[in-house]
Amino acid sequence: MTTHVGWGKIILLGEHAVVYGYPALAAAIDRGVTVAPVPTPKGGPLRLDIPAWDLKVTAASTSDHPVARSLAAIADALGVGRPAVSLVGDAQIPPGAGLGSSAALAVAVARALLEHAQRPLDTTTITTAAAASEQLLHGRPSGIDVAIAVAGGIGVFRRSAGLRRITLPTPLRVLVGPSGSPRSTAAMVERVAEATHSVVGDDRLVELGALTDTGTTALLAGDLPALGAALDRAHAVLAGLGVSTPQLDSLCDAARNAGAHGAKLTGAGGGGAVIAIAPRDREADVLAAWRAASVEGFVARVG
Ligand code: MEV
Repeated sequence: MTTHVGWGKIILLGEHAVVYGYPALAAAIDRGVTVAPVPTPKGGPLRLDIPAWDLKVTAASTSDHPVARSLAAIADALGVGRPAVSLVGDAQIPPGAGLGSSAALAVAVARALLEHAQRPLDTTTITTAAAASEQLLHGRPSGIDVAIAVAGGIGVFRRSAGLRRITLPTPLRVLVGPSGSPRSTAAMVERVAEATHSVVGDDRLVELGALTDTGTTALLAGDLPALGAALDRAHAVLAGLGVSTPQLDSLCDAARNAGAHGAKLTGAGGGGAVIAIAPRDREADVLAAWRAASVEGFVARVG
């Protein structure tokens, strides 16, 4: 029996625009969801138990519980039926915090089900099954969360081309602040659709895509102040699209005032998490500023 992982993620630049085909820079964080298949030889339903999230469900496509439906959707996409197995897992990221928890869970579950069925852990099969779960939960996702949950690392994702991994000269340290406020990815994607009338050439979407390019170039050159400036601008554009909140704005301001190069919301917004890039000797100040606002942040090493 092996333990299977799905990585949590942060989007450094390009969220929301990525839904419209623009590039986004995303990275796995060194935390995620792990799942192991525990066979129940006497029979029984297909179950999932993640004590860290207080989650215990049985696969059922008609259940009221979204994760029960998602478990059924993954099993169906893999064509494994309803095997008598308990998937037992652990999580090092909070659920619903904008850190890709649902994609990480779906990927770990798909891997564990394939192992139980003694099938190869084929990347395309895992991606397709996890995407079925994400569609159920989030409407019309771009696929970026699943791509990172499967591959780990850091890269530029485009809907048309998938994930192109990049290699950093040194790992990047990113401060992550889960705000503790829940959010709905589908509702935020809908808000951006209303703000832009779903016009792909909307100036704000174009700018978010361009900031991905500027930020990626800065990152590859090791120019963290320039990357920080791209983060700051992206936050302002996302706020203009209506997906920030006063709490997220103030966490970003607190990070900047504590010496960060830049800060922004990450993921769908409307709650969820913020990220900041800071000089090494200011990281503790940023984390202290967040703690003063009741947010327990952490440093993720990415790339
Ligand atoms: C969510 O992690 C990122 C969004 O761009 C939605 C998506 O890409 O599916 C907001």
